[in-house]
Amino acid sequence: MHKKMLASVFLMILLLQSMNVVESSDFIIQEATIDEIQAAFKQNKLTSENLVQFYIQQIQKLNPIYRAVIEVNPDAVHQAMKADQERKDKVPKSGVGLHGIPVLIKDNIASKDKMNTTAGSYALLKSVVAQDAGVVKKLRDSGAIILGKASLSEWSQYRSSNAPKGWNARAEQAVNPYVATLDPCGSSTGSAISVAANMVSVSLGTETDGSILCPSSANSVVGIKPTVGLTSRAGVIPISHRQDTVGPMCRTVTDATYVLDAIVGYDENDAVATRNASKYIPKSGYLKHLKLGGLKGKRLGIMRAYPLFGFGNDTETLNKFEKHFDTLRQNGAILIENLEINNFNHILIMFNSEYIAVAAEFKVALNDYLMELVTSPVRSLADVIAFNNKYADLEKIKEYPQDLFLAAEKTNGIGKLEKEALMNLTKASKYGFEKVMIDNKLDALVTPYAQSSSVLAIGGYPGISVPAGYDKNGDPYGICFGGLKGSEPTLIEVAYGFEQATNLRKPPPMP
Ligand SMILES: *[C@@H]1O[C@H](CO)[C@@H](O)[C@H](O)[C@H]1NC(C)=O
Ligand SMILES: *[C@@H]1O[C@H](CO)[C@@H](O)[C@H](O)[C@H]1NC(C)=O
Ligand SMILES: *[C@@H]1O[C@H](CO)[C@@H](O)[C@H](O)[C@H]1NC(C)=O
Ligand SMILES: *[C@@H]1O[C@H](CO)[C@@H](O)[C@H](O)[C@H]1NC(C)=O
Repeated sequence: MHKKMLASVFLMILLLQSMNVVESSDFIIQEATIDEIQAAFKQNKLTSENLVQFYIQQIQKLNPIYRAVIEVNPDAVHQAMKADQERKDKVPKSGVGLHGIPVLIKDNIASKDKMNTTAGSYALLKSVVAQDAGVVKKLRDSGAIILGKASLSEWSQYRSSNAPKGWNARAEQAVNPYVATLDPCGSSTGSAISVAANMVSVSLGTETDGSILCPSSANSVVGIKPTVGLTSRAGVIPISHRQDTVGPMCRTVTDATYVLDAIVGYDENDAVATRNASKYIPKSGYLKHLKLGGLKGKRLGIMRAYPLFGFGNDTETLNKFEKHFDTLRQNGAILIENLEINNFNHILIMFNSEYIAVAAEFKVALNDYLMELVTSPVRSLADVIAFNNKYADLEKIKEYPQDLFLAAEKTNGIGKLEKEALMNLTKASKYGFEKVMIDNKLDALVTPYAQSSSVLAIGGYPGISVPAGYDKNGDPYGICFGGLKGSEPTLIEVAYGFEQATNLRKPPPMP
């Protein structure tokens, strides 16, 4: 009772503060894009401090319902005031891009500040990271404000095969802001919900298989899953270095492109992969690919027959997307339809192979991550499993058993079986996705929802999810454009073209 009263007094103060924000200018923060925010900064209609205060108030109001945020950065307001001062002083890099813009980062991305980095698990609550993750360093360099940590499926959905998506022990179950009963998908659940429901300007998610693309589709936001290595994974609680990638989740393709521009590039702590992928980064950045007419002449593949690559002859889904195919054509794209794949069974084996390879990769990568922490209550996967057993109620071990952890713990590095699995994955990519793309000279493969996420995941290929509409009961769904490694510039042109032609995203209803 006492606590509740205090909370409501606190809320009142925040509400009064927010009224001041609204009174002091005619700028509406809800739904504001990065370009609009930067313009408002310039015209003195808004400060970064106002913006951060507004979002903290939104989190106070909405997070008890949506559970999209695990922690708010106690230094966010201070960082915003600093950004405002830098803009006043015309410091280089101020007044453009992400400077002064609040960002939420998924709770598996390390930040060297007052916040914890836990992947949603109590096992990591008192751990101390050595430094910021590579992408967080780049965000700070750009002047972005780290507003807080976004909730997620615990351990990025790699602890339990039957835990609900968007659940973790610390923040509990995240809720889809469009339709509360709808699966919010995962594992970057909070990253998607927070931008959808205007609790932050932009956010970062991570993906191993579907974790950016699926929640983006389910919560009606734009998600970019970059080519593996384009963004650094250093300081990210890992699953598989072969598949893990960090990417933007935002309300518009333009905002996502601003974030991508800020976070790509070489990082000495993820040196091999980021150096290798640096060749894909356009010299003058990604923003120039946000151009009208971007769909003109683009060859887009549609595989109606295969569930894995598209629609699986599902008439209901196909009917939903036919009008989008028309829109793509009307805007100058060339649709190559009914594409065939030979040897489909050969490709289907990838699911089993992915499971085998990732289990072994996870154990090695997680143990490395835990050993590098400055201090930590757990130093190995075995320690985490023991922690979960010890705090079984807290971690809901009976409801959501740690079957994936136990399977991973049984592995012993990359042995004969894992090598065979990896070879199978290489073959599945080569004779599956790559062959279809190359033989048909495709710029992108168009698929519904996050249907193609495994195909893109196993080969480290990029994909972009864009809001594509709402079912009659309001369930959001996305369209995904996937491409070969390094094809982000082309995918951005296609995604932007689709977004500008359809403009389908709308904010969720008031809770
Ligand atoms: C980090 O976790 C500790 C509990 O171990 C908590 O006291 C602290 O408030 C957390 N940090 C933030 C920013 O929430
Ligand atoms: C480097 O890039 C090539 C493609 O250009 C890719 O085939 C290879 O797997 C990459 N290596 C690493 C370590 O990422
Ligand atoms: C889809 O339909 C085509 C043509 O009718 C058929 O050849 C194919 O086997 C079907 N695919 C699936 C997955 O049912
Ligand atoms: C690799 O693929 C073959 C079929 O091509 C399959 O029999 C085998 O079980 C697969 N191996 C693994 C480890 O997934």
